[in-house]
Amino acid sequence: MSVSDPLRVTVVVGSVREGRLGRAVADWFLTTAADPGLDLDVVDLAEVDLPLVLPGWGGTPGPETVAALKEVTPRLAAADAFVIVTPEYNHSFPAALKNLIDWHHREWQAKPVGFVSYGGLGGGLRAVEQLRLVFAELHAVTVRDSVSLHGPWSGLGEDGVPRDADVCAGAAKGMLGQLTWWGRVLRTARAERPYAG
Ligand SMILES: Cc1cc2nc3c(=O)[nH]c(=O)nc-3n(C[C@H](O)[C@H](O)[C@H](O)COP(=O)(O)O)c2cc1C
Repeated sequence: MSVSDPLRVTVVVGSVREGRLGRAVADWFLTTAADPGLDLDVVDLAEVDLPLVLPGWGGTPGPETVAALKEVTPRLAAADAFVIVTPEYNHSFPAALKNLIDWHHREWQAKPVGFVSYGGLGGGLRAVEQLRLVFAELHAVTVRDSVSLHGPWSGLGEDGVPRDADVCAGAAKGMLGQLTWWGRVLRTARAERPYAG
């Protein structure tokens, strides 16, 4: 790894609902975030079949679970930073997203996490606040600024694209600036000294 290598950013699409806006929001973000300095990967939870039942302590997952984990775990492990695209469900974030988080541990550690949230009037901010607590437990660093898509002035169109594209692109740029700073600093730090946890 060289310091000039592109930062590997894994974008997690947290909604799996039929008819969801989540994938369109993520696609908007990917277009907005495109930059030669970033190597963007997408983990779309609608395409990952992780069971809800975790193995017991010391237990081994069955073959189907191993196959599902093989699809997703190496990509989380390889990431230098994460962007979580999440809606707000009942003042929190979707169960499928919590499931992905709980199946993993070291993969999140000592890495930065940014958020793109959406929902009703709250713009998904309550989901993001809860995710900050979860990621703190996992030794991840959440960046202060997030992209929050809400309200009639900067809300989402039915196509999942923000109505006020300039404001939202500005918010994405701000969040990515912080994510990139932390991502580069922590990548170097992890290479020099493995995180003790
Ligand atoms: C089960 C459920 C609960 C919801 N709860 C909230 C909520 O508490 N606050 C809010 O602002 N929006 C809430 N919404 C609206 C969603 O955030 C909005 O419909 C969003 O588009 C859902 O993301 P998705 O289309 O990717 O599934 C809820 C939607 C669903 C399906």
